[in-house]
Amino acid sequence: MAKIIGGLTTSHIPAIGGAIARETFEDPYWKPFFDGYPPVRDWLQEKKPDVAIVIYNDHGLNFFLDKMPAFAIGAAPEYRNRDEGWGIPTIPPFPGDPALSWHIIESLSAEEFDLCTCQEMAVDHGFCVPMQLFWPDRKNMPRTIPVAVNTVQHPIPQPARCYKMGQAIGRAVASWPEDIKVVVLGTGGMSHQLDGERAGFINKTFDLMCMDKIVDSPEELTKFSSLDLVREAGAQGTEFIMWLMMRGALSETVTLKHKNYHIPISNTGSGLMLLECAA
Ligand code: DHB
Ligand code: FE
Repeated sequence: MAKIIGGLTTSHIPAIGGAIARETFEDPYWKPFFDGYPPVRDWLQEKKPDVAIVIYNDHGLNFFLDKMPAFAIGAAPEYRNRDEGWGIPTIPPFPGDPALSWHIIESLSAEEFDLCTCQEMAVDHGFCVPMQLFWPDRKNMPRTIPVAVNTVQHPIPQPARCYKMGQAIGRAVASWPEDIKVVVLGTGGMSHQLDGERAGFINKTFDLMCMDKIVDSPEELTKFSSLDLVREAGAQGTEFIMWLMMRGALSETVTLKHKNYHIPISNTGSGLMLLECAA
């Protein structure tokens, strides 16, 4: 049977894509950020997951204000990267796993989660930057299944709903008969606000509280509404719902293998976590 072996979270700030392209890993601004990743890369090279379910938010590349699904999932053989306007160099496509995608779609539908299914899907920095951070040279890079959650146009899904959908994704994977290893990525966050009166807002206390609670008591975090997240973490800090969906997919008990938090990268409190599932 398929098994979820762990969960990874990381911020997905576009400036990281630029820094990767320029290879400014040792630059004093970037070093404390990039130095967080080698332990996670080592874990991935040791475990060699077959599939990565990448929960992220599309930033206007696939879906725009005219058509905005709450939840969308890829069911394509590959996912192409396009620049949605940040000027980051584009990178080669990512392989998909349509059979497992359709199994997850059917399993979620049976549990009354109805998703927008995408047999073609372009992926933006929310997907690509984390993939580049975790598999920098693509060695042993898994097949991917993108799951996009709306954080662009309110009303956005509630944190509790995202957590429950994560749990349903966990059950879907557990009922897939192939013997494969799956990791779940939740990208985005942490606190940031890119525009308006509070542009530049970061809330370190809230971010660190979330990184603490998500390990052993994620359900406490599902008590926040999406508007609570706007208030506490900034308008774009709502991206934390991706972390909650990721956490829902994991086993109830997880081991915190690694974490890093660094302020600021661009306008954002950047966080990284590796949670390993119970054997
Ligand atoms: C930034 C952060 C994001 O999550 C994003 O999608 C775009 C920009 C930033 O801090 O610059
Ligand atoms: Fe973002």
